[in-house]
Amino acid sequence: MRIVRTVRELRAAVAAAKAAGSTAALIPTMGALHEGHLSLVRAARAEHGFVMMSIFVNPTQFTEAADLAAYPRNEDRDAALAESAGVDLVFAPDAAELYPAGFATTVHVAGAITETLEGAGRGPAHFDGVATIVSKLLIAAAPDAAYFGQKDAQQLVVVRRMVADLGLPVRIVACPTSRDDDGLARSSRNTRLSTEQRSSALAIPRALAAIAESARSGETDAAALRERGAAVLAQSGLTAEYLALVDPDTLEAVPRVTGATLCAIAVRVGEVRLIDNVLLGAGPEQR
Ligand code: PAJ
Repeated sequence: MRIVRTVRELRAAVAAAKAAGSTAALIPTMGALHEGHLSLVRAARAEHGFVMMSIFVNPTQFTEAADLAAYPRNEDRDAALAESAGVDLVFAPDAAELYPAGFATTVHVAGAITETLEGAGRGPAHFDGVATIVSKLLIAAAPDAAYFGQKDAQQLVVVRRMVADLGLPVRIVACPTSRDDDGLARSSRNTRLSTEQRSSALAIPRALAAIAESARSGETDAAALRERGAAVLAQSGLTAEYLALVDPDTLEAVPRVTGATLCAIAVRVGEVRLIDNVLLGAGPEQR
C-alpha cells in the first residue's frame, strides 16, 4: 500500500491504475479508522481493482474548535488498518495541499437538505465544508465510484445533490451503518465516551429500534413515534438535540410515516455529540 501526500502523486497513481484496466474507488475519511470505515473499504474492494482512501481531518467542516482539536489522529494505526482491509493507496495530504494560501472557493448546497438537522445543529458552515472538501477530493482522485456510510445519512444526501448538480462523473455508493455488538453505531467519537456515558448512549439505538418497532406495528403518526423515542432516551437521562422523521431525499419533516422515511437523531452524551438513524419502511437489513 502506498501513502501519497500530493494531488499530483494521487493523479499519477490513479491514471496508472486506470491505464492498466482497473476501475477506481475512493473512500473519503477523516482517519481514526474503525470497523465502519473498513466495511466501506471491503464494499469498494469487492467491486474495484484500485481502492483509494483519503485521510484528512478537514478543518472547514468543524464548527466547534474544541471538536476539531479533540479529533483523534493516528496515521500509523490508520495506515495499518487501511492496508489490512485492502486499500491500495492512502491519500493523506496536509492542509496546505488542499487549502493553499488565498483559498476562496466554497461549494454551497442550498436549501432544506443543508439547513435542517445537522445543518441546524452545527451551523451552515458544516455542510459547506463537507461539500467543498468532497468535491475537491472527487476532482483530485477522479474515482469511478465513491463510498459513503448511511450512518451520516444527511451527508450522503448532500453529496448526492452536489455530485448531480456539478455533473461529476462518479457513482456514489451508500453502505449500511456498521454497529458494535451492543447496537451503538461505530464512530470515531465513541472513544471519547466514559464507560458510564457509553452505556447511556445505548439508549440511542434502543430509541431508534423502539420507533422502528412501533412503525412496524402500524403507528404512522410522526409525533407519537418521536414521543416513543424520547421516552426511551429519557430512561437513560438523555434528551435528543433532534429526533426527526423526514423524507429520505428532501429531508423535509413528514407528519405521517406512510412510505420510506428516515428517522434521524442527534444526542449529546456529556461533551460528545452522537448521531444515528434508521430507515423506516425499508426492510430489516437497514437497521
Ligand atoms: P468520517 O467521519 O471519517 O467518515 C468517513 C466515512 O465513513 C463516511 O462516509 C461515514 O458515513 C462512514 N462511516 C462512519 N461511521 C460509519 C459506520 N458506523 N458505519 C458505516 N459507515 C460509517 O464523514 C466524514 O469522515 C467526512 O465528513 C468526510 C466525508 C471524509 C469529508 O471530510
